[in-house]
Order: sequence, then C-alpha cells, then structure tokens
Amino acid sequence: MAKYFHTAVQFLFLMLNSMKDVVYSDSASNELPKLLLISMDGFRYNYLDRIAPENKNNFQYFIDQGVRAKWVENVFPSVTFPNHYTIITGLYPENHGVVENRFYDPVFNETFLFENSNQNFESKWYDMGAEPVYVTNTKAGNGRLSGVVMWPAGLAAVKCTPPDRFIPGAYWINKSIEFEQRIDYIIRWFSDPDYPINLGLLYFEEPDETGHPYGPESEEVKNVIAKLNEVLGILKKKLESKKLLEKINIIITADHGMLTHPRNMTINLDDTLDRIWYRLTGTDKNMLLVQVFPVKGFEDKVYSNLKNYSNLHVYSKDEQALKDLHYNDNRRIMPIILEPAPGYVIGTNDSLAGYTTVGVHGYDPAKVKEMHPFFIASGPAFKKGYSAGPIKMVDLYPLMCHILGIKPAPNNGSLENIQHLLVNPAPSHKADILSVTIVTYILVFIALASVAGVFSIFAVRHSKTRQIYMFSTRNSESLSGYNPGADQRLLDSGSDDEI
Ligand SMILES: *[C@@H]1O[C@H](CO)[C@@H](O)[C@H](O)[C@H]1NC(C)=O
Ligand SMILES: *[C@@H]1O[C@H](CO)[C@@H](O)[C@H](O)[C@H]1NC(C)=O
Ligand SMILES: *[C@@H]1O[C@H](CO)[C@@H](O)[C@H](O)[C@H]1NC(C)=O
Ligand SMILES: *[C@@H]1O[C@H](CO)[C@@H](O)[C@H](O)[C@H]1NC(C)=O
Ligand SMILES: *[C@@H]1O[C@H](CO)[C@@H](O)[C@H](O)[C@H]1NC(C)=O
Ligand SMILES: *[C@@H]1O[C@H](CO)[C@@H](O)[C@H](O)[C@H]1NC(C)=O
Repeated sequence: MAKYFHTAVQFLFLMLNSMKDVVYSDSASNELPKLLLISMDGFRYNYLDRIAPENKNNFQYFIDQGVRAKWVENVFPSVTFPNHYTIITGLYPENHGVVENRFYDPVFNETFLFENSNQNFESKWYDMGAEPVYVTNTKAGNGRLSGVVMWPAGLAAVKCTPPDRFIPGAYWINKSIEFEQRIDYIIRWFSDPDYPINLGLLYFEEPDETGHPYGPESEEVKNVIAKLNEVLGILKKKLESKKLLEKINIIITADHGMLTHPRNMTINLDDTLDRIWYRLTGTDKNMLLVQVFPVKGFEDKVYSNLKNYSNLHVYSKDEQALKDLHYNDNRRIMPIILEPAPGYVIGTNDSLAGYTTVGVHGYDPAKVKEMHPFFIASGPAFKKGYSAGPIKMVDLYPLMCHILGIKPAPNNGSLENIQHLLVNPAPSHKADILSVTIVTYILVFIALASVAGVFSIFAVRHSKTRQIYMFSTRNSESLSGYNPGADQRLLDSGSDDEI
C-alpha cells in the first residue's frame, strides 16, 4: 500500500515542476532574453517611403517579421546626444542631464563638447541620476552582459558600471570603424561561447552625416539608405549563421529626423546684440537650439532685443512653455533658450559666414513633424506584421527592460503605453504575483486532494492505527530528496525578475 503514497508524492513533485516550467519558460530553457538596439542617426520617420523596394528589402524583412510604428515622439531639443540618452534611460533631458550636444556645466565650470573623445568616456557628464539600459542589464546579474558599439552618450561608466564590452577608444564619430566591422563586434559578443552579451547597442552615424550637407530630400540620402539596407542584410545573414536570428529581439530606430534649411532663412544675433552683453554656452556651432547666458546687468536688454526677431522663439528659463517641454530643471540649461522657426538657423557673422548645411534638426518635434525618427522592431517578443501609431521615445527604456526581464530604474516612460507592440502584453507586477499565488494555491490544493484521495482508498481497506503509522514513515522517506524551500525561492525570485 505504501506505493500509493509514493505515487501521490511523486505526482505533487511533478505538478510543482511543470508549473514552474509553464510560468517561467525562459529560465527553464536556461537562456537569457536577447536584445539588439540599433540607431541609424537622423533616420526620418518617412524616409523609407520614397525608397525603391529593391533598396529596402532588408528593412522590409524586419517590418514584415515584426512591428513598424508611424513615428517616434522624440524629445526637445531634437539633436543627437539628448535623444540617444533618452532612448537608453527613458528620461527627459532635464532629468538625464545631457541637455545638448554641447553645453556648459556651471558647477564643473567646464563645457561638454560631443566631438571631444575623452568626454565621451567621462562619467561626470552622464552620471547625474540616470541609469542607461546597459547598466540596468548588467546590474541585474545572472550572467547578463551588455555590449556597446559607439552609442552616443552610451560609453561611460554610470553608477560605477561601464558597458561590459565596447571598442576601446572608439566613440560615436570614429569613421575608421566600418559598418561591417561594427556588426562583427556585435556578433562576436552575442555568440561568445563563455561570456555572451544579452544586450547590444549598435550605432551608425548615417543617414545624418549625408543628410546635413545634401538635405533630406536628396539622392545622396536615398543612396546611403540603400547602403544601410545592405548593412542590415549582412547583419541578418550573420545572425542566421550563428542561429541567433530567431532568438534575438531587434529594435531599429533613430534620434531625430531632418528638415531642409533654405539659405536665406537665417537669424543673425549680431544684428541686434552687442557681443559683450552675452555669452553663448556650448559654442556658436549650436545653430538651432541656442543657449544664451546674459552678462550681469544686460539681462533685460538681451531678452528684449531677442524678442524683436520675428522668426525666433525666445524662452526664458522660468517660462511655463519650457517646463512643458521638460527643459527647465537642470543647471546645464541656461537662462535664455532660443529656438528658430522651422527651416531657420541662428548664428553670428562668423558662424553664418560659410555655413553651407542644407539639412537641419533640433526644433521642437511636437511642432515640426520632420523631426520625428522611425521605428522598426522584430523578434520573439514582438507581434508580427503589426503597424502601430506613433510611440513615445521615453517608453522605449521600460519596453527594453521588460523584454530583458529586468526591473527598470525610475523613468518618464510607461510600459503600458507601448506594450501593444508585444506578443504577450505584460500583466502588471501585482497581477503577476497574484496569478503565481493563485496557481500555487490551486496546485497545492490538487496535490493535497490527491494525497487525501489515496489516503481514503487506503483507509477503506486498512485499520486506522496501521495506516497512520504507514503514512508517517513513507512520507519522510519519499520527501528526503525534496526541498520545498528551494522551489519557493525559485518562484519568489522569478516574480521579482520578470518586471
Ligand atoms: C572658470 O574657468 C575659467 C577658465 O576656463 C576661469 O577663467 C574662470 O575663472 C573659472 N570660473 C570660476 C567661477 O571658477
Ligand atoms: C577610432 O577607433 C580606433 C579603434 O579603437 C582607435 O584606435 C582610434 O584611436 C579611434 N580614432 C579616433 C579618431 O578616435
Ligand atoms: C527665401 O527664398 C525663397 C525663394 O528663393 C523665397 O520664396 C522666400 O520668401 C525667401 N525667404 C526669406 C525669409 O527671405
Ligand atoms: C526692439 O523693439 C523695441 C520696441 O518693441 C524697440 O524700442 C527697439 O529699438 C528694438 N531693438 C532693436 C535692436 O531693433
Ligand atoms: C556683422 O556684420 C555686419 C554687416 O557686415 C557689420 O555691420 C557688423 O559690424 C558685424 N558685427 C560684428 C560683431 O562682427
Ligand atoms: C521624470 O522622471 C524622474 C525620475 O523618476 C522624475 O524625477 C521626474 O519628475 C519625471 N518627470 C516628469 C515630467 O514626470
């Protein structure tokens, strides 16, 4: 009769095990979720619409296999460094601190320039409370590793955690590292037999580099997009050969779009301001979003003279309009901010002389649609063949953390806004714990009922005293290899990790 009890205990054991597999299939297969985030700088939301099918077949592959959003609502100012840091932190620039490509920090009494290689690796510019996804991923442990190829504002150690893999000395503007070489780094890191990364960030400076001198509507931009299409084809092939293509989640997006600037649309500060009244922080190379620091005693004069320009928006730092743009609460934002009307640029005699740029960006994306970047995503986490409306850039960080199965740091985004892109929209954390708890109760109940069932069959045939004796001895023997505490621990840590 003892075999009935043995069977019942085995049944309970099996049930608990299979439940664990159902609820946490990822950990059961012993593989971490994989994510590759790609940025193609300055890739406007509608660029692909005017590309011939044969020149975008690889983009089309990822669209057909996954999701395309209408555009990304990026953040003000629509320039490279603030937006790249928003993508990976989910924070507005006033909160992550990288407020421009070039800016002045009054506490450091020092200017950040995005073309300065050393500053790209210096923590102090990025480590102001933000937590980029490469840090969140690595800090979550369990073998998670992050690799970064040349991501703008993505190379420094933040919270004492640098990217686990990067190309030494190579920052975002290093043109000597060919696109295919960058892919090779990423593939090698993902397929490392001993310490593979599960998160990769990959940056290409095109089509921005071509969009500036030739303009967004040019043939040159079309050609460089055809080249990026080939690059994607190479990536796809290499992922396939490493048997990664089916397993990896890929997000392809950008920081901003691009607008044509007609030569005659300029705002020259020398027309109304004496240069001794003010300083431009950053440098006068920021032609779109200009940060003005008036010299003491000239504040009103500078402000009122700037107000005379008809194609210039002049924000003073305490203005509600700037707060609404989430561009106020940071010491690196100066007392006066200038934003030109669409198509216009701001300069001085010197910076405007010889200014030949055709494509420009930096305007408020909420006002100038051309500032929006594109978004494509595919992989096991994403729906297939799904067309979404506009999505928010600040929601990408919680989305990535969810895909990676890690807990996001505080941010300005929301998974709820964006989870319609996913195959399995996440139940909220509470619902997750609740469902696990309910499943546990049901299974324990079934198991107890089975034991009770066997027990009662037994009881019909045997005397009460003998049966109790049998139960207690068999019970302790069968359970000797079984540690319920361990199982419970697994469930607990699982529900914490899944967020
Ligand atoms: C800031 O640095 C400059 C030199 O770069 C120096 O002339 C100036 O005195 C410094 N200001 C303060 C407040 O330390
Ligand atoms: C570009 O990257 C290579 C490889 O890491 C490095 O040796 C080189 O110094 C970098 N060049 C520049 C201009 O940063
Ligand atoms: C710039 O030039 C174009 C034609 O070349 C003209 O239509 C437009 O009005 C000009 N804009 C300004 C501000 O001068
Ligand atoms: C700016 O406009 C005010 C009147 O609104 C005028 O008094 C002043 O002279 C103008 N300044 C310049 C530099 O045009
Ligand atoms: C800027 O150019 C104008 C026109 O050539 C000239 O009158 C003015 O003095 C110049 N200002 C400065 C600060 O160079
Ligand atoms: C953005 O997130 C940060 C960090 O949680 C928070 O301090 C800030 O208030 C948020 N901003 C907005 C507009 O919600």
